[in-house]
Amino acid sequence: MIVRTPPMGWNSWNTFGGNINEELIKTTADAMVNTGLLEAGYNYLVIDDCWAELKRDENHRLVPGHEKFPNGMKAVADYVHSKGLKFGMYSCSGTLTCAGYPSSYEYEFIDAKTFAEWEVDYLKYDYCFKPEHEEGNLLYKRMGMALANCGRDILFSACSWGNDETHKWIKTTGAHMWRSTGDITDNWNSIKSLYEKQIELQASNGKGCFNDMDMLVVGMGGKGNVGFGGCTLEEYRTHFSIWAFLNSPLIIGCDIRNMKQDIKDIFTKKEIIAINQDPAQRQPFLASNQYGNTVWCKQLEGGDLAIGMFNMTDSNQIPFFIFSDIGLDRSCGVKLDITDLWTGEHLGLFRDQYRARLIGPHECIMLRCKIVNE
Ligand code: GLA
Repeated sequence: MIVRTPPMGWNSWNTFGGNINEELIKTTADAMVNTGLLEAGYNYLVIDDCWAELKRDENHRLVPGHEKFPNGMKAVADYVHSKGLKFGMYSCSGTLTCAGYPSSYEYEFIDAKTFAEWEVDYLKYDYCFKPEHEEGNLLYKRMGMALANCGRDILFSACSWGNDETHKWIKTTGAHMWRSTGDITDNWNSIKSLYEKQIELQASNGKGCFNDMDMLVVGMGGKGNVGFGGCTLEEYRTHFSIWAFLNSPLIIGCDIRNMKQDIKDIFTKKEIIAINQDPAQRQPFLASNQYGNTVWCKQLEGGDLAIGMFNMTDSNQIPFFIFSDIGLDRSCGVKLDITDLWTGEHLGLFRDQYRARLIGPHECIMLRCKIVNE
């Protein structure tokens, strides 16, 4: 299976932690359809940690929690599929999951088969409780081989948080995406620090195996499992824009059954999603990162450019870029026809440089630019 664009979906962890059950998953599946998220591209519904009984059955197979999932996982998968969604689950490469549930270490092939029987489409695979004598890369390779031989296409979402130089070996494992950061929490400091760690890892990102900056906290409002503090609406918009720009998977983590309109507007902004799902999947690059003027550029399929101006500072900024910063020297004789993607405003034709409007702390501007030959 080749995954050509960053996966999009919803995951239970950020808001619900261990507090998950069949009813939550079904009503969330309904909400993914009714709120227009599925139509916008969010097609994976993923159950994270804490879904299993503490003991395997007599055939060493994982058992869904009897109280949380009384009808088993196939029934949940059937419901999710009936909504036109794909179904994701979670396990771990160590002896226990991060929350202390049974894990796939030394049961990789049995578990991959079980997931295939339940018609799972996506497996998030964590890194807690790794035995010291084992090499992490071999454990991920092992599950990669188990999934490749389980008889079903299952997207392999590795979650070793970038530890043990994951970027150097992840593409040997068959993973389709890999957590290039530690865990996110719902506050600006967390967003900023994940972003900063990501800059040097961009060279490892690309079609087929995406850098996963962790699930989105947009819309959590400081509530739920990782809701430490919360963010302003502008911070959520910048967080979403950065993840989209850097080609990270877009996995929603808030309670979408109770989503305010302004949050839904962020998730479904199709011009921003298009920057994330661009078929070319070129690597973005930092055009400027001086004195608080942070400007990223990415070439898009068809010749347009995306520009992301992110104010990571705590003061106002007037972001700008000189065309030579992105490789368009004056000698090229071209202008840029620029549109603001969040406001929809057509800003007009520019030559040599673009100076944006003043933006407040933690705000951003996302642009799409057409190159116009004179
Ligand atoms: C780790 C992962 C999280 C989540 C929890 C579940 O911390 O990084 O994304 O899956 O485990 O316990």
